[in-house]
Amino acid sequence: MVNVAILGFGTVGSGVAEVLAGHESSIARKADGLIKLKYIVDVRDFPDSPFQDCFVKDFAIVENDPDVDIVVETIGGVGVALEFTRRALEAGKSVVTSNKELVATHGYELNLLAKEKGVCYLFEASVGGGIPIIRPLSQCLAANEILEIHGILNGTTNYILTRMVRAGLPFDTALREAQKRGYAERDPSADVDGHDACRKICILADIAFGRHVSPEQVPTEGIRSVTLADMNYAEGAGKKIRLLGRAIRLDDGRVCAYVAPHLIDQSDPLAGVEDVFNAISVRGDAIGDVMFYGRGAGKLPTASAVVADVMDVARNLGHRKALLWEEGGPDTVGGAEEIRSRWYVRAASGADALKNAVGGKLLAGRGTGGEAALITDAAMTRGELDKKLSGVEALSVIRVLN
Ligand code: HSE
Repeated sequence: MVNVAILGFGTVGSGVAEVLAGHESSIARKADGLIKLKYIVDVRDFPDSPFQDCFVKDFAIVENDPDVDIVVETIGGVGVALEFTRRALEAGKSVVTSNKELVATHGYELNLLAKEKGVCYLFEASVGGGIPIIRPLSQCLAANEILEIHGILNGTTNYILTRMVRAGLPFDTALREAQKRGYAERDPSADVDGHDACRKICILADIAFGRHVSPEQVPTEGIRSVTLADMNYAEGAGKKIRLLGRAIRLDDGRVCAYVAPHLIDQSDPLAGVEDVFNAISVRGDAIGDVMFYGRGAGKLPTASAVVADVMDVARNLGHRKALLWEEGGPDTVGGAEEIRSRWYVRAASGADALKNAVGGKLLAGRGTGGEAALITDAAMTRGELDKKLSGVEALSVIRVLN
């Protein structure tokens, strides 16, 4: 029998408890033995929970119990979660987590610690919620050189963008709706400013390219500035606006990674990804393009991935499963400024001035006053675009998107 402790009884932690208890016998069959929930650590009281026998308030009880094999960290953030993860690994227990912030910032050192202690640190649920992506990337696609990963990595922003275009809601109203439905937090910044997507693309880049990519190294732009007018112009050009995280292997070995809203063709499979769904596209040199799609957040989808990791550890207890990458540095990441794109540009000036400055097809749309928008004919770097735009001061650029 394998004993599990859950740290943090929030949305994901309670989902993990439910899935472990609800599927006990099929999990035991597939994992070659019973997996028992022994402790739930949370400082709060949950008098109505069916898991009364499991609750403890002091993590030291878990840390000092030699019968606990696997610790599930669903606290979130990098404070207590980091401390408890370190202590659990030090105590020789494997740790499974859904905590993308912790993996993105401290995954390298936590993996090293796990290696030193001969235990596992697994985090399938940290990217794409219930979508299998970490294991496929590190195992099923391991024979490939990964060339690029890009995708819709945040369900809340995808929901907001979908509601804006479908119901004609301005950003603020769509955000309030997402908060009412429980997708967006009261402080929505991690989602709408792109930080959540940034952490996820960092984790994917770590695994795919083998060196640690830190969130501070990744230029990140969210969706706050995207308006209905931009969506209207995009629609007129047969495109949709989606927040994408992107990581590309450059020829010189660096990783170029960034998060930004993009105009994508209606024919791109990512354009069909709506509401809170996520989709991740991976390009390998042998396989070509492969895509992963599903529920990127939520209690049970995320618990599905966490419990699968628990089962993986339980099946291989005593055998470390490594997801290792090398230390990163200032020279690991870069080159976003070298990426060539055809750009969407919207400016308050007349259409002719805009067209003369950057060259491109003007878009039909419902902007105000004399404003105009176009997509450049030529692909160019952002620096080249800015140079062209700065040559015409009167343009008053409103928005530039990939
Ligand atoms: N808040 C995230 C999202 C879910 O909306 O996708 C967890 O990463």
